[in-house]
Amino acid sequence: MTGTINVGLVGLGTVGGQVAERLLTWGPQLSRRAGVELCLQRVLVRDPKKRRAIEIAPELLTSEPADLLEDPAIDVLVEVAGGDEPMRSYLERAINAGKHVITANKMVMAKHGPELLDLAAARNVDVYFEAAVGGGIPLISTFRTDLQANRIERVSAVINGTTNYVLGRMAVAGLSLGEAVGEAQAAGYAEADPTDDIGGFDAAYKLAILGSIAYEIKVRPDEIYREGIEGIEPVDFRYARELGYAIKLIAHTQRHPGRVEARVHPAMVPLDHPLARVEGAENAVFVEGDLVGQVLLVGQGAGGRPTASAVVGDLIDLARSIRRGVQSRPSFSFDDRITVVPMGEVVTRAYYRIRVDDRTGVLAAIGHVFAEEGVSISSLIQKDAWSQDQTAELVVTTHPAPDASLQRARERMAALEPVRAVSAFLRVF
Ligand SMILES: NC(=O)c1ccc[n+]([C@@H]2O[C@H](COP(=O)([O-])OP(=O)(O)OC[C@H]3O[C@@H](n4cnc5c(N)ncnc54)[C@H](OP(=O)(O)O)[C@@H]3O)[C@@H](O)[C@H]2O)c1
Repeated sequence: MTGTINVGLVGLGTVGGQVAERLLTWGPQLSRRAGVELCLQRVLVRDPKKRRAIEIAPELLTSEPADLLEDPAIDVLVEVAGGDEPMRSYLERAINAGKHVITANKMVMAKHGPELLDLAAARNVDVYFEAAVGGGIPLISTFRTDLQANRIERVSAVINGTTNYVLGRMAVAGLSLGEAVGEAQAAGYAEADPTDDIGGFDAAYKLAILGSIAYEIKVRPDEIYREGIEGIEPVDFRYARELGYAIKLIAHTQRHPGRVEARVHPAMVPLDHPLARVEGAENAVFVEGDLVGQVLLVGQGAGGRPTASAVVGDLIDLARSIRRGVQSRPSFSFDDRITVVPMGEVVTRAYYRIRVDDRTGVLAAIGHVFAEEGVSISSLIQKDAWSQDQTAELVVTTHPAPDASLQRARERMAALEPVRAVSAFLRVF
């Protein structure tokens, strides 16, 4: 074995603690695989005096960014701290200083990934970010290496473990959204402020990264249509199951001529689709390439240890290529001409749950709205009825139609006199 690669680690929390532990306790094995010694040189944290779950020499810790970013001895910056700034600037400074970087930061990679990759290519260093999407599941390396020969046609994923856990508890135990979120927080699957997960923001960041890598275009998180799981009620799971579906938060992207679709929203997924069977905090990504056909990747999408597996895996891969003096992975060239399809033009099927007055003429009025919007009904079933207020619940599913027409039908039905409320609207996957 020749040489040493010095690592500067930013962050020593859930993920950083596990990364440091692996480097400190599994050194010989990692070095044998990398072909060089991997040395944890310095660790940047906010508070060096804080009690840590892992044992680490106090002299390794610093709260001064320059101790890592301006130390020429550090070859690789591993960022596992999170948030947009200052981490974006730290990565940029490291790249400009000729350091390779590895990051688990989905926010930075989703918002600024293409620019950082371009800068890295100009500086002849590499950016690795396997851990930014799907925790321990090898996604980026799969796209970057194993699926390189393909034109990727579509990627559909259950990519947020928190919402999948919450939806699962609502489906199985009949919990309300609030109760299921409380349970997820108690079990450590949801943050104290779960907005990023429940609102679909986290899934949109991950889809922006996956879409950018899959198609080599710049997919921005704010170009992705996003809806969270807030509007779903326990009864929707019962109706969905009766119709042969599960409800999942789906991140979906698909190629069209000159454009791509990119959207995150809850959807009814046929029970025999692999994504319908993803349970608990697990993640799954379903990829379709023109040569390979369909590929399903499943695993732990979060957690300190699975995420550290991806980070340290990147480090070994990078160390090997540094040792050989080559960039082992292809760099990206992003095609700026391809744009994202506006959601209104996306063609999809829909499910509506509608509370109506239980009297004649209602079905005709609803049918009329769909007909005028050019939306063809696939099924219309009267579900529960309530004698005390003379109302009933209708469930309508449609054939594929432009999303704008489905939305207009929703608004027009809500305005009909015998309609009390369009209580739920979900796309059917
Ligand atoms: N946790 C997961 O399951 C998971 C999965 C995939 C990806 N990720 C990503 O991994 C990253 C880290 O997540 P985490 O769960 O490990 O976070 P965490 O437990 O909150 O740890 C964050 C660490 O970063 C340090 N830090 C934060 N801001 C800093 C700053 N401005 N300067 C210096 N140090 C700073 C903190 O220092 P102190 O300890 O002194 O406070 C802490 O050690 C995030 O980008 C996250 O999205 C996490």
